[in-house]
Amino acid sequence: MKENLPSGTAQRVAMRRAAHQLLDDPKVFDDPVALRIIDKESASALQADPHQFEATPLSPYLRAFVAARSRYAEDELALGVRRGVRQYVILGAGLDTFAYRNPYPEGVLRVFEVDHPATQTWKRARLEEMGIALPSDVTFAPVDFETQTLEEGLRSTGCDPDKCTFFSWLGVTEYLTTEVVMATLRFIASAPVQSGVVFDYMISPSLLTPAQRSRFDALAQRVASAGEPWQAFFDPELLTRDLRAMGFGYVEDKGPEEINVRYFKNRKDGLRVGSLSHIMNAQV
Ligand SMILES: C[S@@+](CC[C@H](N)C(=O)[O-])C[C@H]1O[C@@H](n2cnc3c(N)ncnc32)[C@H](O)[C@@H]1O
Repeated sequence: MKENLPSGTAQRVAMRRAAHQLLDDPKVFDDPVALRIIDKESASALQADPHQFEATPLSPYLRAFVAARSRYAEDELALGVRRGVRQYVILGAGLDTFAYRNPYPEGVLRVFEVDHPATQTWKRARLEEMGIALPSDVTFAPVDFETQTLEEGLRSTGCDPDKCTFFSWLGVTEYLTTEVVMATLRFIASAPVQSGVVFDYMISPSLLTPAQRSRFDALAQRVASAGEPWQAFFDPELLTRDLRAMGFGYVEDKGPEEINVRYFKNRKDGLRVGSLSHIMNAQV
């Protein structure tokens, strides 16, 4: 990330979630706050022409993936709450809106938003500007993953390490170093049994076909020139093995075929996810 500046990619993925609310029927991820959390100007522009930010042929695939990963994380969170999860830690929260539409009765699920300090300050100003009330059960933890561990960042927030906790980490791992990603996952693996994490990650470029590789290169160039270069990529088989070795008892990797069957089957508009990223679900 550019020093002391909020993440530009956080705004861009929030725009995709907002566009999904307007463009796609049926919606894969229903987010009634998605249009309110983007700034007023962008929201009016998007409402006037929902296609205007869909600049390239890759845009629908990216929009589909952003919608699917949030849907999958919240589906898994719901299963987690049934088995006793009482804390939800959103890592690299960006403009995620879960905390502002938390469907669980008060007192059931505490939410912790962890993000880079610059992005979090910007988000809090955005919430105020848009008149989105802060629920009493949300806590903010400013953490720069590259200089501070998640354990340190959560220490003074009231997040109880002995409670069953669900973590989501969406659209973030690729912006960090592999060492930071693995250290963070090792910390999550030390959470109480029935805790879990859902995160998405980029496939190692060496595993891509030439066509996939050219799409990867185009996107990589775009994020690098915006000051947020991709750094970490994974081989699904090796990552699954490493997560098991960390102590996760249940590890499920979801590639594009499974995601498309689960969330995009029988659509008339052909919306579906592309093949550069996977979603990982790991439970302690
Ligand atoms: C693409 S956005 C995703 C935001 C959100 N998870 C979503 O899906 O809308 C990437 C997020 O990663 C966060 N991030 C990137 N590098 C970080 C770091 N070193 N420490 C903490 N957060 C970081 C950014 O602040 C931003 O919120």
